Amino acid sequence: MTERDFSIQIIRRLRDAGFEAYWAGGCVRDHLLGRAPADYDVATSAEPAQVTPLFRHTLQIGAAFGVVQVVGPRIGDQPPLSCEVATFRTDGSYTDGRRPDSVRYCSAEEDAQRRDFTINGMFYDPIDGRLIDYVGGEADLQAKVLRAIGNPTARFTEDKLRLLRGIRMAMRFDLAIETETAAAIQQMASQIGVVSAERISDELHKIADHPRRAAGFQSLLEFGLLATIFPEFAESATDSDAWTEVIQSLQCLPRHASFPLVMASLFQLRTDAEVRRTAQRLRLSNEERDRWSWLHAHRSKLLDWQQLPLHQQKRLVVHPGFPELAQLVESHAAATGTSTDPVTAAQAMLATTPRERLDPPVLLTGDDLTAFGLKPGPMFKRLLDAIRVAQLDEEISTPEAAWDRIHTLLQSHS
Ligand code: CTP
Repeated sequence: MTERDFSIQIIRRLRDAGFEAYWAGGCVRDHLLGRAPADYDVATSAEPAQVTPLFRHTLQIGAAFGVVQVVGPRIGDQPPLSCEVATFRTDGSYTDGRRPDSVRYCSAEEDAQRRDFTINGMFYDPIDGRLIDYVGGEADLQAKVLRAIGNPTARFTEDKLRLLRGIRMAMRFDLAIETETAAAIQQMASQIGVVSAERISDELHKIADHPRRAAGFQSLLEFGLLATIFPEFAESATDSDAWTEVIQSLQCLPRHASFPLVMASLFQLRTDAEVRRTAQRLRLSNEERDRWSWLHAHRSKLLDWQQLPLHQQKRLVVHPGFPELAQLVESHAAATGTSTDPVTAAQAMLATTPRERLDPPVLLTGDDLTAFGLKPGPMFKRLLDAIRVAQLDEEISTPEAAWDRIHTLLQSHS
């Protein structure tokens, strides 16, 4: 059974018990577009206390907001199927800009009115194959228009994240943003700052993940959202040379590009400190932050390939981030019509040099130095690094030669 089948089974059971029940929101939009939805949400006239007894296994995490999670049987070692069943509701005020303080149960039509955009505000009855569209979502989807439901300012005031969601939806489905909706986004752009870093980061990931990411970031700049999210870009104008260079580089990235790669491309003309600060502010995982910083720091090294000492060349090409670094530099070269020779040279080294020469086993370890009587500390680290550098530069290749080098280095320091 698929998630789709499971959601239909749930709708059928709610219907048999005398309630109204439909697919709601994003899955209806995706269904009309012929795309596979990420998940199937069900909306119903049944209240949580009426939903719960109809199913064997439910989770009540969102019950205060009218949402019950129905969990299916576990099949094999797959995670069990699950489906959100939400009671038709209107939301009260949003003091934290995120969750309503209270909800009131209502009709399907009123439930549609509280949603963000017309394309996200439809219901679908999968049993009778019937669309229930109170907000003109189908017409907007056909006309390729993104329109807030009702008063755009009111919709964005309820949840400021919708400002970003709007840009993402328009990018993702290639929609024009309707005039009043666009004006409200522009006018309220600076208020995106009240939204938590985690939610902003999550939306940015979704924008960065999409092949039309360049259009997404261009809109973020045009609507004034980028300057609030990244104050580093506050002075950027849509027609400045630096910005054009960034946007064209983003366009030249591969379809599938990781978040660190996209961010490295977006921030390629920025400083290390700006990258560090932004990664911190967005609360990125250590893994994403480290990869982004590495790409940023090593971009200029790869561009200077011919000038790099052998040990730096080797360290660069064996690094797990090297393929992305090559893509970062290549996309910028393609955008600006500059040479990709450094990338070609680095890739050639990686392809033609045996691994044991690029990344040979170490000649000496910290344990060897400790056994020799040295104490761990800055000097200790410097010695180990000097040995590794000499080895990668192919000046030494045996432990004996390494020890000779250690003695010379120690003498020159005493
Ligand atoms: N919704 C909303 N306001 C928000 C978030 C969600 O009105 N800030 C409503 C929309 O009707 C949306 C539905 O809740 O379609 C489900 O939200 P979500 O799963 O976050 O988004 P989807 O529209 O399903 O889009 P995606 O495919 O990106 O998940």
